[in-house]
Amino acid sequence: MRQRNVKNLQGRIEENSTHLIREPKTMKGRWKEVFGNDHPIYLEVGSGKGQFILKRAASMRDNNYIACEGQDNVCLRVLEKAEEAGLDNLKVFMEFIHDIHEYFEEGELEGVFLNFSDPWPKERHAKRRLTHRRNLMGFFQVIKPGGVIEFKTDNDSLFEFSLGEIRDLGYEILELTEDLHADSCDYLSKEFPTEYEGRFMERGKNINYVKFRKTAEAADETGGNK
Ligand SMILES: C[S@@+](CC[C@H](N)C(=O)[O-])C[C@H]1O[C@@H](n2cnc3c(N)ncnc32)[C@H](O)[C@@H]1O
Repeated sequence: MRQRNVKNLQGRIEENSTHLIREPKTMKGRWKEVFGNDHPIYLEVGSGKGQFILKRAASMRDNNYIACEGQDNVCLRVLEKAEEAGLDNLKVFMEFIHDIHEYFEEGELEGVFLNFSDPWPKERHAKRRLTHRRNLMGFFQVIKPGGVIEFKTDNDSLFEFSLGEIRDLGYEILELTEDLHADSCDYLSKEFPTEYEGRFMERGKNINYVKFRKTAEAADETGGNK
């Protein structure tokens, strides 16, 4: 997500910092305390300007949400909107996640959202894809048993790659469509479009979507170099 330079970025972040978690790694194992309740916690990795997570948090007040966005000038938009909306079930942190275990304890999350994640089209960069098997296994280590990952993308090749990873790992697919916005599709996720999703819908591009969970039998390690 590109964003023009923002004037007085630091000042504006400070002015809109009510929902900001400044040192998210120190919250590992303590996210319940951050929210002050036991409600399920969902994370969106790469939330962009936050349209999706803000609407989710506003509609589902009994869940807690964490928006994570690595670009500070993009993250500012989430912070500004969160400030305006005054949602106490939403927190935001401004870092690129490379290793999810640095931020969350085993089973600390109920689910993870990956929306229009960067495709990293070159084969040599495949491990950087958030749906690469190493990343998926990492996410499921911090998601509690039965919890889910939801992934949406316009990118058909990335989707095909991701489905391959999901199937190879033996995960259970709960919802799957190559056209989330088709009239015949009634998955909840279509009610929460992201900024990117809106743009692609305007152009008539199909949106791929999959929701999946780890089964008891699924592997925890690749057992190889992949
Ligand atoms: C293509 S944009 C999509 C934004 C938003 N999810 C949407 O659908 O409108 C991907 C965003 O993810 C962020 N991002 C990519 N990898 C990330 C990571 N590992 N941790 C945090 N943010 C990440 C990028 O900075 C970018 O803003």
